[in-house]
Amino acid sequence: MKISFFKPYLTGKELNNIKEAVHSLHWSGDGSFTLKCVQLLKIMTGSPGYLVPSGTAALELALMSLDLKPGDEVIMPSFTFPSTANAAVQMGLTPVFVDVREDTLNLDEALIESALSEKTRAILVVQYAGVAANMDAINIMARKNNLWVIEDAAQGVNAFSHGKPLGTLGDLGTYSFHQTKNFSSGEGGAVIVNNTHFQERIEIHRQKGTNRSQFLLGKVDKYSWVDRGSNYCLSDILAAFLFAQLEQIKTITELRRRLFNQYYQGLHSFSNGRFRLPTIPQGCEPNYHSFFILLNSETVRHKLMIWLLKNGIESTTHFVPLHSSIAGRHYGVVRSKMNVTDLAGSCLLRLPLFPQMSIDETNYVIDCLKSFFER
Ligand SMILES: Cc1ncc(COP(=O)(O)O)c(C=O)c1O
Repeated sequence: MKISFFKPYLTGKELNNIKEAVHSLHWSGDGSFTLKCVQLLKIMTGSPGYLVPSGTAALELALMSLDLKPGDEVIMPSFTFPSTANAAVQMGLTPVFVDVREDTLNLDEALIESALSEKTRAILVVQYAGVAANMDAINIMARKNNLWVIEDAAQGVNAFSHGKPLGTLGDLGTYSFHQTKNFSSGEGGAVIVNNTHFQERIEIHRQKGTNRSQFLLGKVDKYSWVDRGSNYCLSDILAAFLFAQLEQIKTITELRRRLFNQYYQGLHSFSNGRFRLPTIPQGCEPNYHSFFILLNSETVRHKLMIWLLKNGIESTTHFVPLHSSIAGRHYGVVRSKMNVTDLAGSCLLRLPLFPQMSIDETNYVIDCLKSFFER
């Protein structure tokens, strides 16, 4: 058997939608498919959402709208994708790295207070693998210290915490629709605006710093350059692709859930002492973005990857901690211990999981994994 780590999933409606978008002759941003996607996002989140070209762009736009000063600090985990910190650096801000919790690998709320300084302005929470951070504690801390809360929910579309969608638990939330995410347009993203304070700013920054959105609503009679900004619009042709995926959000999630649960049940009792499985705290409903295990050492991880590959199975590591990366050391500041981050960076292994994967294939991965430890 040969099993890829990941295969993109088509719902079957993508090409028809693209054809329709092409024939509509509206190919730039904010056409009818963008509107349809935004309407779906509104139903899902209850908040206004804006399509952007990527999860990275979504982070940049969200951070630009905070209107902070160069050198202001943003608390974030080091165990994340470079875009989280890069977006802050692009806005002239300093990423302040804090360790993650052992259970969810999300920002450790207990370490935030001691990482604050007079320059701290925001907390950027990453919702790793579609499992929520402790947002109640983080929001309380933020309110007490007058900080904005942004959720990098790139991996968290259609995941929930106590019934509320990830991306709606802070002032602003960001999503990614990159090919590797659960719902995709190849490249794409969205900003979810939960605090009305930011809505007009987001609209201006997204439209190249112009008040075009107000013009389209008839609020001003012409539009012009009013503030900083960039072109953060997603082409309607890509929105057409995305709409086909967002319409199937429940089906796609269910296909992933069955594989995640199969892995969990197949490995739960066997894992004992050999490796750790993902923890899903009470009240969290994940979107099954990823199934990972945490091995006891980097050497075991390396040997296991080779063993799986010999048996036709691709597995993959995840984030290289940002605090020890070249750019992270240059631009960032470390204000806590980093042992959980270092452990996740060297011992975490992700197993194949994509909607069209079969239960037989999942069982084969489980059997190969077990045979590695039983040799
Ligand atoms: C946590 C996190 N933030 C941001 C991004 C960037 O998203 P994109 O690739 O859509 O720019 C990713 C992508 O993998 C991510 O995992």
